[in-house]
Amino acid sequence: MNEIVLQIDGKEVVAREGMTILAAAHSAGVAIPTLCHHENLEPYGACRICTVEADARGRTSLVAACVYPVEKDLVVRTRTGKVDSIRKLLVEQMLAHAPDSEQLQELARVYGADRDRFEKESSFCILCGLCVRYCAEVRKKNAVGYIDRGPRREICFIPEVASRECWDCKECFPLCPTSALQAAYVLTEALIAPPEQEKSSCSCSSFLP
Ligand code: SF4
Ligand code: FES
Repeated sequence: MNEIVLQIDGKEVVAREGMTILAAAHSAGVAIPTLCHHENLEPYGACRICTVEADARGRTSLVAACVYPVEKDLVVRTRTGKVDSIRKLLVEQMLAHAPDSEQLQELARVYGADRDRFEKESSFCILCGLCVRYCAEVRKKNAVGYIDRGPRREICFIPEVASRECWDCKECFPLCPTSALQAAYVLTEALIAPPEQEKSSCSCSSFLP
């Protein structure tokens, strides 16, 4: 595979064609925060916390490092005023969902995010999709899915699959950046409560902290 030379934070980095900026940065020891990324899953690009500035072909853009592929002579900056203020805003929005998440609190400390900036949301889920994708791509069980659309979108366990597969697995719980215990709650609720017919085969409508 072809080698590609780019620059990350002033450092020359040799990457392989097809690598993402995130993978190239990690290979060079440059840290970029992530929330929806998992090395065993397909890149997703949902949370945008990995946003970096990239100069390519005379243009500067803000891109998600976990999905953007490296290219020759790309110049990447992982910490600029713009990048930090985007990450700060994103963390503040996510803290409205999960104010007690240790991962989010650590990011809030780094980027100076205010955990009370936005009104609290009823769902603890930040829709990183890790649980849904892990269950589908790695475990191949599809016991967790999405329900509703837009701002009402949430994850939920499919009771008939979860009751069969989840008790002996639960591998998605520690992946959740907000609260594994809350995810466990959702599973418990899904297994105990019968599914509401009007919400397809999912049983949960909101997540309680
Ligand atoms: S429940 Fe957790 S892991 Fe699943 S999508 Fe929501 S935040 Fe991500
Ligand atoms: S880690 Fe890149 S978008 Fe979430």
